[in-house]
Amino acid sequence: IDIKSLRADTGGVTTIDPGFKNTGSCESAITFLNGEEGILRYRGYAIEELAEKADFLEVAYLLIFGELPSAEKLLKFHNDIRAQSRVDEDVKKILDGFPKSAHPMGVLSSLTSALVAFNPSSVNVDSEEEMYNAIVRILGKFPVLTAWTYRKRAGLPLDYGDASLGYVDNFLKMMFKHPNDEYKSNEVVVDALDKLLILHADHEQNCSTSTVRIVGSSHAGLFVSISAGIAALWGPLHGGANQAVIEMLEAIKDDDGDTKKYMAKAKDKSDPFRLMGFGHRVYKNFDPRARIIKKAADEVLADLGVEDPVLDIAKGLEKEALEDPYFVDRKLYPNVDFYSGIIYRAMGIPVEMFTPMFALGRLPGWIAQWREMRLRKEPIGRPRQVYIGENLRKFKDIENR
Ligand code: ACO
Repeated sequence: IDIKSLRADTGGVTTIDPGFKNTGSCESAITFLNGEEGILRYRGYAIEELAEKADFLEVAYLLIFGELPSAEKLLKFHNDIRAQSRVDEDVKKILDGFPKSAHPMGVLSSLTSALVAFNPSSVNVDSEEEMYNAIVRILGKFPVLTAWTYRKRAGLPLDYGDASLGYVDNFLKMMFKHPNDEYKSNEVVVDALDKLLILHADHEQNCSTSTVRIVGSSHAGLFVSISAGIAALWGPLHGGANQAVIEMLEAIKDDDGDTKKYMAKAKDKSDPFRLMGFGHRVYKNFDPRARIIKKAADEVLADLGVEDPVLDIAKGLEKEALEDPYFVDRKLYPNVDFYSGIIYRAMGIPVEMFTPMFALGRLPGWIAQWREMRLRKEPIGRPRQVYIGENLRKFKDIENR
């Protein structure tokens, strides 16, 4: 069939694929994912090797520009980011306007969007150089916004940390430096966070990334595209799952550790409850990120001397699920967020900041996907529908309705 002439003659053939389960939205050279075999690679490099050997900024460079950077290129990249790590003083006023109780993801999405007002040159970017400038700007400012969102909630003064530190180390300093204390870098925490951020850095065309690409496809600009991605990530079926997992594990702990009760709830189709941190649209055997994080959770908690009873509850739930026909038949396994919250908590990161941590990790992936989409000059994203509403109706005056 000549699709083009069919389209011209008939208005086209429209397929319906709820949740886009079988629909590819683009060609991409960034992330390879094989859900049956549990394989994840960034630009051809195995996630296991990157998590072990690389740091977050190196992986960000790799995702965005396609190659691992030389030491010289990495230093320039880091310096360019450092040079852009200040935000306009008025951003503080906007932050001040939010109630302390506001969820950090809403605040972060709004602040990221608000950055456009202070960086108007970041909107109409067409050349690679203009894109690069917008990219280092957002990589410089986003950790500041994330840390400040937390500090505002915690009642701490806003702080820029120390730009001479590494990207991740300085983020931790911006989060946790107390006015009366010297901040001391903790290698275990920095390494663990590097690993977590790398594991979250990209995951091809997931909900938030597809959102970034589709918003960006209207040439709306990088910052607002990222802001939309943050909003998409917020939901509990996506990035919000990491917060929901800890809340669920806590609830089980407070319920005498009765995992069986929660397993039964998750299987009961009349109950909307789902086992948070379980299941994945693409992984149908295991999520390779979950394996790395489970191991890291054990190591980090041991290194920090933290004992967390919810880690045992999590392991117990996983074991029960792996032996339960409901979960086995539906191929439901722990995903990246089942164990990540336990590590965040051991680092002292409060639960409502877990999803912002995911956003910080996913930022390079969103940027890489946005850049690829723009460089490939992809057309505006505009899905079709199958209309199921009323046929033509005659208008009724208001007194006759
Ligand atoms: N607990 C109990 N049952 C589940 C779960 C779960 N966590 N996940 C899926 N199921 C069941 C569904 O009820 C459905 O059963 P049915 O076939 O009898 O109707 C079947 O498994 C398939 O589920 P779908 O919702 O159709 O699968 P989908 O691919 O659309 O959803 C998702 C994937 C959203 C991740 C889902 O598994 C879920 O809600 N998990 C819990 C939330 C979560 O952990 N999200 C984080 C995902 S990873 C990430 O975004 C970073």
